[in-house]
Amino acid sequence: MAHQAVKIAEPRGTLGVLIPGMGAVATTFIAGVEAVRRGLASPIGSLTQMGTIRLGKRTERRSPAIRDFIPLAELRDLVFAGWDLFEDDGYQAALKAGVLERSLLDQLKDFLSGLRPMPAVFEQRFVKNLRGRNVKKAKNKRELAEQVMDDIRGFQKRSGASRLVMIWCGSTEAFLKPSAVHQTLAAFERGLRSNSPEIAPSMIYAYAALRLGIPFANGAPNLTVDIPALQTLGLKNRVPICGKDFKTGQTLLKTIIAPGLKARLIGLRGWFSTNILGNRDGEVLDDPESFRTKEESKLSALEYILQPDLYPELYRGLYHKVRINYYPPRGDNKEGWDNLDIFGWLGYPMQIKIDFLCRDSILAAPLVLDLVLFLDLAQRCPELARKGIQEWLSFYFKSPMCAPALYPEHDLFIQLMKLKNTLRHLRGEELITHLGWEYYD
Ligand SMILES: NC(=O)c1ccc[n+]([C@@H]2O[C@H](COP(=O)([O-])OP(=O)(O)OC[C@H]3O[C@@H](n4cnc5c(N)ncnc54)[C@H](O)[C@@H]3O)[C@@H](O)[C@H]2O)c1
Repeated sequence: MAHQAVKIAEPRGTLGVLIPGMGAVATTFIAGVEAVRRGLASPIGSLTQMGTIRLGKRTERRSPAIRDFIPLAELRDLVFAGWDLFEDDGYQAALKAGVLERSLLDQLKDFLSGLRPMPAVFEQRFVKNLRGRNVKKAKNKRELAEQVMDDIRGFQKRSGASRLVMIWCGSTEAFLKPSAVHQTLAAFERGLRSNSPEIAPSMIYAYAALRLGIPFANGAPNLTVDIPALQTLGLKNRVPICGKDFKTGQTLLKTIIAPGLKARLIGLRGWFSTNILGNRDGEVLDDPESFRTKEESKLSALEYILQPDLYPELYRGLYHKVRINYYPPRGDNKEGWDNLDIFGWLGYPMQIKIDFLCRDSILAAPLVLDLVLFLDLAQRCPELARKGIQEWLSFYFKSPMCAPALYPEHDLFIQLMKLKNTLRHLRGEELITHLGWEYYD
């Protein structure tokens, strides 16, 4: 049964997008938004810009665009600010990232070169392979957080943004296990003052955002807001959070193919994935500590989708391996190979080979846009904001965050259904169950 629509404030004024890490993904996103605004290109891959949503019965033929169905900020209302340890402005950074063609970037140069990254909160030990000079100095991490908050207030004043969202597009940090300092907000704040080595830079940005009531999305596999201390702060201030690690490239394909194999009860003995990529992300992931963070994130998806405990004969003992090789000549245009050893009827073996010539940041940019718009929506909707973790945005992540008692849902199609049903629920429309008996009565 349909119910009353949920209260959502209208998106009035401009929306400021705060981005720690102005590298390939961030600049491809920002330049892309500006290119779309100028009518130079289309926002392909973005659900908020191109997606539709079916409402009611199939016979009703109601399928509005998502952007007409739910009050989202418009592209023309977005303004941007970011931090990076390199001083390159948006134009130079986009050129170095090598994702978008120079001919497009030159048309956007006036806009992009106005984007100057603010000095970063950076600690070498978390990203060993990068060295930059645009870095904040302070006597402790508490002071660094204060500086980030000052940056945010300054940007809000300059830009006149009425609302803000922060999305981490910085490098993958070294692997970090949750420890005592992450368990409570009080311990975390003591850790900030005492310069705890367990508090990573990404956590400092997130802390600053949540303190100021700004929603936070984590595009990398870092621990960041996946700790009770920051989740408590988010709940206390009623701020939506989500993460982690944008679902692009090889993992996107995995979460498309694996649910299909499982649906048909096709067995899987092994899945070997290897990649070559040559961008800065690849360089960072060349460090084993950063790779470990990424590996954990990439490996978990298959296990959750295939449920070997429910289907031991098909999936127990599956050999799953993921490799990333830094190979500079490819730049951002990575190549991913997958070999799947599968088996069917009576156990007869078969193989699938995938060679995906993909552009990582081209796949990531529309996710950044959707996440920014949906997190802003969540912030304007008290019923969503007070939930803290926005599990309905799992669709966008390799390691979706969810309530502690749950296991994450990785199947792309279930994730999409969850997202669309959330939107239907918000607008007081009936949820779609696909039962469909009524058509035959
Ligand atoms: N491109 C994809 O498809 C994809 C998919 C999933 C996750 N990611 C993640 O998104 C992030 C960005 O990817 P990218 O390809 O843009 O990488 P990138 O190396 O081009 O950009 C990251 C930027 O972050 C900066 N940085 C690092 N630490 C920082 C800090 N503490 N503060 C501010 N800036 C900092 C770096 O200097 C760099 O400019 C990476 O963590 C990557 O693993 C990317």
